Amino acid sequence: MGKTQSRKAEHLKIAVEEDVQFREKRTGLERVAFKGVELEYKALPEMDKKEIKLETEFLGKNFKLPLMVEAITGGTEEAKKINKDIAKACQETGIGMGLGSQRAMIEDAGLKDTYFVRDVAPDIFLAGNIGVTELGKYSAKEIGKALDDVGADAVAVHINAAQAAMQPEGETDFKGRIEEIEKLAKTLKKPVYVKEVGHGIGLETAKALAKTGVKAIDVAGAGGTSWTALDSKRGSKEMGETFWDFGIGTAESIVQTRKGFKGKIIASGGIRTGLDCAKGIALGADLCGLALPVLKAQQSEGSQGVKKLIEKLAEELSIAMFLAGAKDLKGLKGKATVKS
Ligand SMILES: Cc1cc2nc3c(=O)[nH]c(=O)nc-3n(C[C@H](O)[C@H](O)[C@H](O)COP(=O)(O)O)c2cc1C
Repeated sequence: MGKTQSRKAEHLKIAVEEDVQFREKRTGLERVAFKGVELEYKALPEMDKKEIKLETEFLGKNFKLPLMVEAITGGTEEAKKINKDIAKACQETGIGMGLGSQRAMIEDAGLKDTYFVRDVAPDIFLAGNIGVTELGKYSAKEIGKALDDVGADAVAVHINAAQAAMQPEGETDFKGRIEEIEKLAKTLKKPVYVKEVGHGIGLETAKALAKTGVKAIDVAGAGGTSWTALDSKRGSKEMGETFWDFGIGTAESIVQTRKGFKGKIIASGGIRTGLDCAKGIALGADLCGLALPVLKAQQSEGSQGVKKLIEKLAEELSIAMFLAGAKDLKGLKGKATVKS
């Protein structure tokens, strides 16, 4: 097993077996928070819950629900089963999916099939994935080929300064990365979007990304999986403790990103219920994403477990919309109150 693969395998094991979620910091979407977000309750919604529409469109693909499973894995035999189980559930429920970083398959073409899910999920929105610090190493042509090889519709470029700073082997040269993102967005034939990995995106970064031509931003804010925590479990424990709760909470991150960016926004990082998702959309996001709960559901009950989780989120979202008097996702916009 190569270095990239063994790091990925360690990440999976630690994420499933240990506590790697933020401890003190919350997404800001939960009910009782220092600065919480409440969905406005409309006691007389004047609508029939059964008529609620959850369909949406994202980067040219139709979604039955405004949800996607965020990037998790690829590159190992274990990853192959995880990706297929998740993809099958996404196909059955009509939501999107992100593949884990494709660096391993660019380095070793033999690993392509550990990412390939189009046999079980021919119709879903599928995002490829590459780290921002890989952009200088691979050409747009190589990245484009990695996307074509798995039938991806778009690429998510992950930005992970906080994570990299915790990794003993982490790439921490972030000079010129905005320019590289812009170059890729202008050269690649497929849409490019940018995602954090769990520490959030703020106003300044959103504004800088707005100028690059990326089509969407996935905030992956603080409050869910903490990568400073996860990677510190593999390396420098002490520093991981210091930065465990570092980052911009998801609610704050959505609000700031919406201020600086006109494209699509994915609310993610600690989305755990359909109510969290409703609040994210009310604050200005178009779609919600989640990773760790999906991985845990897959590990305990396979594809069926993932499907059950997605169906629960959909029902919760539907209830939240009913209680806010929103017939569709557009109607949800602005229905959140930020409490200080
Ligand atoms: C085990 C694991 C592996 C991940 N690998 C990647 C990755 O390769 N690329 C990426 O962009 N994000 C990766 N992520 C980050 C997720 O896509 C997501 O943005 C983050 O976990 C926040 O969502 P959550 O709180 O619902 O887990 C990974 C997350 C987990 C839990």
